[in-house]
Amino acid sequence: MAKDKAEDRCTCGTPSEDDVRKAVRERYTRVALRDSSCCGSDSESKCGCSGIYPSADLVSIPSEAQTASAGCGNPMAIAELRPGMMVVDLGSGGGIDVFLASKMVGPSGKVFGIDATPEMIFRARKTAKDNDFANVEFRLGEIEHIPLESDTADVVISNCVVNLSPDKDQVFREAFRILKPGGGLAVSDVVLLRELPEEFRGDMSAWSACFSGALLEEEYLASISRAGFVDVQVVGKEVYSEELLEGYISRNEKKSDLSSLVASAKVTGVKPN
Ligand SMILES: C[S@@+](CC[C@H](N)C(=O)[O-])C[C@H]1O[C@@H](n2cnc3c(N)ncnc32)[C@H](O)[C@@H]1O
Repeated sequence: MAKDKAEDRCTCGTPSEDDVRKAVRERYTRVALRDSSCCGSDSESKCGCSGIYPSADLVSIPSEAQTASAGCGNPMAIAELRPGMMVVDLGSGGGIDVFLASKMVGPSGKVFGIDATPEMIFRARKTAKDNDFANVEFRLGEIEHIPLESDTADVVISNCVVNLSPDKDQVFREAFRILKPGGGLAVSDVVLLRELPEEFRGDMSAWSACFSGALLEEEYLASISRAGFVDVQVVGKEVYSEELLEGYISRNEKKSDLSSLVASAKVTGVKPN
């Protein structure tokens, strides 16, 4: 695949799966190794993060999980978690949503975090151990091949991850497979509100920053429906300002019009009984 001088900018449109996975793993390895707040000025951190959780919810969440947070929404706000549930977080990163869910499902419940970046899994496991979270488990794996049995989860959550996958249909098929009949999908993710400017299509830096891999909103919903989910709906949406995107994508050299281009959406769906 042809690349220009900038090491991770592809010039040929659609990137290969290998290029995507490599760029994503490299970025989130760096995020996993940092110990400063994700809400600072560094451009690694712009997959959301700041101000997305009520501060009262964060009081009992370890700071090591908060500083690795890289989400773009709060799936817990729509997941309707209850004590005793089995919950799976796709692309769990440093574990912030797993630890929040852990409190909600209580000792009779269980929360699994799945992530493909080994450093994220190591970090999340250490946080769980150091802070005595007994009802959580972090498994290394790709969300296109979830390392869990079929028909076992009550709820699948995810926060700013499916946009990073080179095969979104496969991710939603896997989410459907592991859910019990009647189980729920509750995701926060980046979606496009109109077509992406050509210059970003093969830009691996913009892909791993949760931008170039995003689907149009209607395509995202269609992908979930194709997997078999019903009652698929957007239950909340925040359109990103042009200013925020300029920081998000550090190399917008051609100065495309980024207004009303990208949003963080909260989406739910149900696996039929
Ligand atoms: C933007 S971060 C979000 C992390 C976490 N959900 C949060 O809210 O802090 C994306 C995470 O998804 C993981 N990831 C990306 N693509 C993945 C894939 N195909 N399979 C498993 N994990 C993936 C990355 O390693 C990273 O930890």
